[in-house]
Amino acid sequence: MKVCVIGLGYVGMCQAAGLAKLGFAVSGVDLDEDKVGLINNKTPPIYEDGLKELLEEVVPDHLTATTNLAAAVKKSDVLFVCVGTPSKKEGSMSIEQLRKVCEDVGKTIQKTDRWFTIVVKSTIVPGTIEEVVIPVLEKYSKKKFGEGFGVIMNPEFLREGLALKDFFSPDRIILGSSDKKSINSIKEVYRSFKCPILTASFKEAEMIKYASNAFLATKISFINEMGNICKKLGIDTNTVSKGISMDHRISPHFLRSGIGFGGSCFPKDVNAIIYKATEQGYNARLLRSVLDVNREQPLKMMELLDKYGPLKGKKVGVLGLTFKEWTDDIRESPALNTIKELLMEEATLCIYDPKAMRQVKKIFPHLKYMKNADAVVKESEIILILTEWPQFKDVDYKNKIVIDGKNVFDRKRPKRYEGICW
Ligand code: UGA
Repeated sequence: MKVCVIGLGYVGMCQAAGLAKLGFAVSGVDLDEDKVGLINNKTPPIYEDGLKELLEEVVPDHLTATTNLAAAVKKSDVLFVCVGTPSKKEGSMSIEQLRKVCEDVGKTIQKTDRWFTIVVKSTIVPGTIEEVVIPVLEKYSKKKFGEGFGVIMNPEFLREGLALKDFFSPDRIILGSSDKKSINSIKEVYRSFKCPILTASFKEAEMIKYASNAFLATKISFINEMGNICKKLGIDTNTVSKGISMDHRISPHFLRSGIGFGGSCFPKDVNAIIYKATEQGYNARLLRSVLDVNREQPLKMMELLDKYGPLKGKKVGVLGLTFKEWTDDIRESPALNTIKELLMEEATLCIYDPKAMRQVKKIFPHLKYMKNADAVVKESEIILILTEWPQFKDVDYKNKIVIDGKNVFDRKRPKRYEGICW
């Protein structure tokens, strides 16, 4: 079976490389010529653990990349749509890339009389498949849904940094469709996966993705709120977190307190579902509070810094810029908000991150970028840890003040140490 993956961002890249490893002939499609060139040269356009080795293995025998959508679509049976659905200013979701892909796919399949299964992996608010994807495909292909083509909503649950692991060992696969033929062809693609498969309606599948991310974001804001209360009471939130997670109904996952969640998904998706709810006349108060707690969480670092006197001219070192460890992604990273606050207070900053220096330089070109964590320690009076990179726990902090926003230390903490919620 030949498959095509349209949109080679984090999700599309892992989907394409993963399916190629499973033996499918995969064409990856992206508008970005540089990205396509890199992939065809076996070089990952993003940092993702294991991706480089995987591309070396599957390119070009099982995976090739192209900017030519029509050519890739024509030779494929199943098309995975993985384009981005970024936030608009007011918080709703932008579907322009998705709409354009549906137009182009529609025009291409109009000229063939084969069956195509179109699988949407992009995160889209409930109703988008029935109100946008199918009508646009029908308009441009001049075919009827369920006759010339089928559509499936198949949300992704990949965590950046663990995306390939999550691709090969998913907890579940969600298949939303009203069309049996499409469900059967996608089940064929996923036949080697051992996890449960849940079939659902389009809207249910679209909502499962939002409900999953909103729930995980809620857990983080919950433990951060507990953490803020614990901090005031002189209680270590990590012990509280451990204690509550021994109850199997709570589970230990996503209960690490810190400077809050970031990334391209949680903030965007929670905002989009709040917006969708508001359109329906429902005020999603709990989800608004999840975002409120998260927005204020990086400021807790500033409150902790207060006791060391005015920041003007103080040498502050920042370790970690990405929104979490094992990625080079800085989208919505709470570390960037903390840097903005520090700059407003006129602190003298030097910073280091193992993967994201190049991207951050574009936003803050005048900061002092150090070659490693030791250099940051040497240069600073106070050090802030803003990403949970494991290597930061082995640094010699030389009796300097360390304020930890991510709980990177297991037992052995630096001598002069304070945690954000512990
Ligand atoms: C998240 C979901 O976990 C994936 O299942 C989903 O597919 C993805 O969004 C998406 O929608 O595409 P991701 O954004 O890669 O994945 O990262 P997570 O590992 O979920 O972490 C998100 C943020 O929460 C990070 O800033 C992390 O540091 C923070 N976090 C996570 C905490 O502060 N505490 C925790 O206990 C866990």
